[in-house]
Amino acid sequence: MLYNSWLRLKTYIFYCLQFAMTVKPRRYHITTFGCQMNKADSERMAGILENMGFEFSEDPNEASLILYNTCTIRDNAEQRVYSNLGRQAHRKRQEPGLTLVVAGCVAQQEGEALLRRVPELDLVMGPQHANRLEDLLEQVFEGNQVVATEAVEIMEDITKPRRDSKVTAWVNVIYGCNERCTYCVVPNVRGVEQSRMPEAIRAEMEDLGRQGYKEVTLLGQNIDAYGRDLPGTKPDGSHQHTLTDLLYFVQDVPGVDRLRFATSHPRYFTERLIKACAELPQVCEHFHIPFQSGDNDILKAMSRGYTQEKYRRIIDTIRRYMPDASITADAIVGFPGETEAQFEKTLKLIEDVGFDLVNTAAYSPRPGTPAALWENQLSEEVKADRLQRINHVVTTTAMERSQRYFGRTEEVLVEAQNLKDSTQVMGRTRGNRLTFFKGDIAELAGKMVRVKITDIRAFSLTGEML
Ligand code: SAH
Ligand code: SF4
Ligand code: F3S
Repeated sequence: MLYNSWLRLKTYIFYCLQFAMTVKPRRYHITTFGCQMNKADSERMAGILENMGFEFSEDPNEASLILYNTCTIRDNAEQRVYSNLGRQAHRKRQEPGLTLVVAGCVAQQEGEALLRRVPELDLVMGPQHANRLEDLLEQVFEGNQVVATEAVEIMEDITKPRRDSKVTAWVNVIYGCNERCTYCVVPNVRGVEQSRMPEAIRAEMEDLGRQGYKEVTLLGQNIDAYGRDLPGTKPDGSHQHTLTDLLYFVQDVPGVDRLRFATSHPRYFTERLIKACAELPQVCEHFHIPFQSGDNDILKAMSRGYTQEKYRRIIDTIRRYMPDASITADAIVGFPGETEAQFEKTLKLIEDVGFDLVNTAAYSPRPGTPAALWENQLSEEVKADRLQRINHVVTTTAMERSQRYFGRTEEVLVEAQNLKDSTQVMGRTRGNRLTFFKGDIAELAGKMVRVKITDIRAFSLTGEML
């Protein structure tokens, strides 16, 4: 009798749960910190969750599964993660049904230590495990607290990513990084280089072309290293697979009218690649090549493997083939031991080259990196002062570079509505300058439009559709 009513109660609970699930689907929320690589991983993880029947929720407080895809490139990036996490961990104490996931680079760096710091976490997973999300969540739903940070070979992904844009898409070509820049956590958290096969890359791009995507950015932390881990050599003994060969292999994917790639490393950047970019109409005239410092001794201390003279020669060669090419970069100020004179060489490099944009950062000592242990660290005041001064030079230089667009007609690929002015749409020139103009997004999304530039700012343009 007792057993019977227990059975009935269980069936009742089961149907209630079923009912609850049909009216209120499980919802997930993802917040992404960090670089394009992390954004691409988030899109793949979102695809996996939707495949599992989850629905996206913009508001984390409406979601029953929250995933933070984290970044640890600098200390402030890491701290942002902890403040978000603290809030949801607090919520979980009231709502034990909530599933909390930390993915990405902080997860990889901290591993088990994260569980000790935030015991409410259900899953801690490094970037190499992004494609295994479903598998890992199943273990969580069975009642386990899971940490997945061991080095693994990244599987080819079969789930469709849930991409943020319908016009532009990222495609990973190489994971990881084998460089050992003395300031950088990326090799520790992203593991060794692993290139995808050209056929898999092309297949993903063909699928994107069929879905109506117009622009693809090929991604790698050091994209110039593409292919060196793949088997095969050419008759002259060089690698069979290089980024240049990959560009020739994917340039004619139907529908994909624009190709970009990032991030380039000056150490491996070749003239052959520059020639290919000049020759292939789909490849945009935009190069993102971080230089980090304009001083050779600092570059050596960073283990970057090139001099500022070599960097300048690369830019000269690019401009010989493509005089109008946009050049963007990253730079670090306040690296251990950097003198005022060395810092000024970085400013001089920015002025001489004339960058369209430089992402700047004050040096941040990172766990597990050599430079963090050196004794010649600079004070926060010096770093903050140099950051402010470099940013001023970056803006002035970018403004000068913007002048060349004034009155010109540019080809703009329309991506979205201008969030600040709904009568305008937003797109990018081939040189990657953000451009705004009057138009209806319903009609223009994904269209390549000719725009006459009527107004310029340091990092964006305004124009009129022709
Ligand atoms: N793979 C790319 C960049 C990866 S990280 C490259 O080789 O250039 C993105 C940028 O963050 C770097 O270019 C660098 O400028 C910055 N960065 C990396 N580690 C940093 C640190 N410890 N402190 C400050 N900035 C850092
Ligand atoms: Fe970091 Fe250097 Fe690798 Fe770039 S190339 S990801 S800066 S180690
Ligand atoms: Fe950050 Fe990881 Fe990218 S540390 S910059 S999210 S590789």
